[in-house]
Amino acid sequence: MSDLRKLPTDRILVSPSVLACDFSRLGDEIERAGDAGADVIHLDVMDGHFVPNISFGPPVIRSVRKRSGMLFDTHLMISEPARYAKAFADAGCDHLTFHLECSEPTDRVIDAIRQTGCTVGISLKPATPAEAVFPWLDRIDLVLVMTVEPGFGGQSFMADQMTKCAAVKREILRRKLHVQLEADGGIDGKTVRTVAAHGVNMIVAGTSVFRHPEGLDVAIAELHAATALLDSEL
Ligand code: DX5
Ligand code: ZN
Repeated sequence: MSDLRKLPTDRILVSPSVLACDFSRLGDEIERAGDAGADVIHLDVMDGHFVPNISFGPPVIRSVRKRSGMLFDTHLMISEPARYAKAFADAGCDHLTFHLECSEPTDRVIDAIRQTGCTVGISLKPATPAEAVFPWLDRIDLVLVMTVEPGFGGQSFMADQMTKCAAVKREILRRKLHVQLEADGGIDGKTVRTVAAHGVNMIVAGTSVFRHPEGLDVAIAELHAATALLDSEL
C-alpha cells in the first residue's frame, strides 16, 4: 500500500483523473500516465445521488489494482462514504477523499476511513467556505478544493475558488500540519499556475492530460512545470 503521508507538500504532484480516459483500456491508460510521470492516479467515484452522474465503484478499482502499483487517490462523490469505505479499501485504494457535504457525520466518516488503513481527505464543493474544514485539519491528510461543481469532467476552471485555496494553505502552514492541498476541475497547463500560486501542490487533471493534443508526456510535464509556492510567498 502506498502512503500519501510520505509525499512532499512543497512540490507539484500530478494526479491524472481517469474520468477523461478511454475506459475500454483503463489499465493501459493508468500505466501510460504512470510512465509519463504522474505521481498518483485520481479515481472519481460517483453514485448518481451525491452528484448527478455515475462512474464506477469497487469492482472496477479491484480489477485495475492488479495492473498498477500507483497510489490510488480516490475521490468519493458519494452520499455515504463511511458505509462504503471498507469496500474501497479492500478493492485496493490507498487514499479516500470524501465530501464534507455528504450525508454522514464528518467524524464518523474520518474514523471509518482510518479504520481501513487508508489516508483521509476532505473535499469542499465550490459553495463551502474554507473555514468549514479547519476543525478537521489535524485529523486528515489532504484537503481537496473543487474548482468546478463535482459530477463531470471537462468543465471550466472557477478562479473564484483561489481565495479558498490560499485560506486553507495559510491555516495548514500556521498550524504546521503535513496536509496536502489538492485542487480538482478545469486545470491545464495555464490554470495550473494560478492554482500553484495560491498554495495548491496536488493537481488533478482529466481532460488536459488524457486529451492533450501532444500526448500524455507533454501534458504532465506542463503541469509539473508550475512551481509549488514557497511558504514565505503566501
Ligand atoms: C469532477 C471530478 C474531476 C474531473 C476533472 O467531478 O472530480 O476529477 O474529472 O476533470 P477535468 O480535468 O476534465 O476538469
Ligand atoms: Zn475528482
